[in-house]
Amino acid sequence: MFAFSFAGPIEPDRTRTRGCPIPPQTRYLVSGLIVRRLARMEVFDAIRERKSVRSYDERPVPPEVLEKILEAGRIAPSASNVQPWHFIVVTDPQKRIALSAGKYAKFLKNTPVVIAGLGDRQASPEWHVVDVTIAMENMVLAATAEGLGTCWIGSFHESEVKAALSIPDKWEVVAMLTLGYEKEKIDFTRAIAKRLHKRKTLNEITSYESFGKTKPT
Ligand SMILES: Cc1cc2nc3c(=O)[nH]c(=O)nc-3n(C[C@H](O)[C@H](O)[C@H](O)COP(=O)(O)O)c2cc1C
Repeated sequence: MFAFSFAGPIEPDRTRTRGCPIPPQTRYLVSGLIVRRLARMEVFDAIRERKSVRSYDERPVPPEVLEKILEAGRIAPSASNVQPWHFIVVTDPQKRIALSAGKYAKFLKNTPVVIAGLGDRQASPEWHVVDVTIAMENMVLAATAEGLGTCWIGSFHESEVKAALSIPDKWEVVAMLTLGYEKEKIDFTRAIAKRLHKRKTLNEITSYESFGKTKPT
């Protein structure tokens, strides 16, 4: 019994082996004649691989891939299963310009797809922001697994986004996501920045049993 990773080409092409599509970066467990996908590792690989991508190439996102990403949001959990969300897929260049007014959102002009995540504050006054955020992070991880880059966008003026996308009053714009294929370039600065993209240590951010209590040894 052994496990292996298959790193396929960057989307949208899919490698086919004897007629079976093999998604990129999928790990398989080979046990006797049975080949099983290691779902747990796939998820963790996507979590580890994800990074904010702000530079995209011209390739459009294939409709079936976009659908799969939206589906990842659709099946997310929500408080009392209210599903207080709506997602607007924006590809129109003029609309993307309108969405790019925020200080840290200029690159939306050159991003193939932007998804605006809306929360229904009437349907779920207490939880709509959490629910929409969970759904959008599902989308981020699904997109990563599909070989796409994403970036969360919080830099926007809600009134401008609502006007540009004709969003009715009761909806709150929780966040936006960019989506597309990362522009491939040899960028040492980016590579170094990624390595330096430090996260706090587990010890800094976790306690056991009560706040500030360290892990029992
Ligand atoms: C809620 C939220 C809002 C963000 N807003 C923006 C934004 O407006 N523009 C941007 O370029 N990045 C934005 N980011 C991306 C963060 O800057 C990024 O996640 C962080 O620096 C860590 O880098 P990494 O995602 O590559 O790991 C946002 C991230 C989150 C979670």
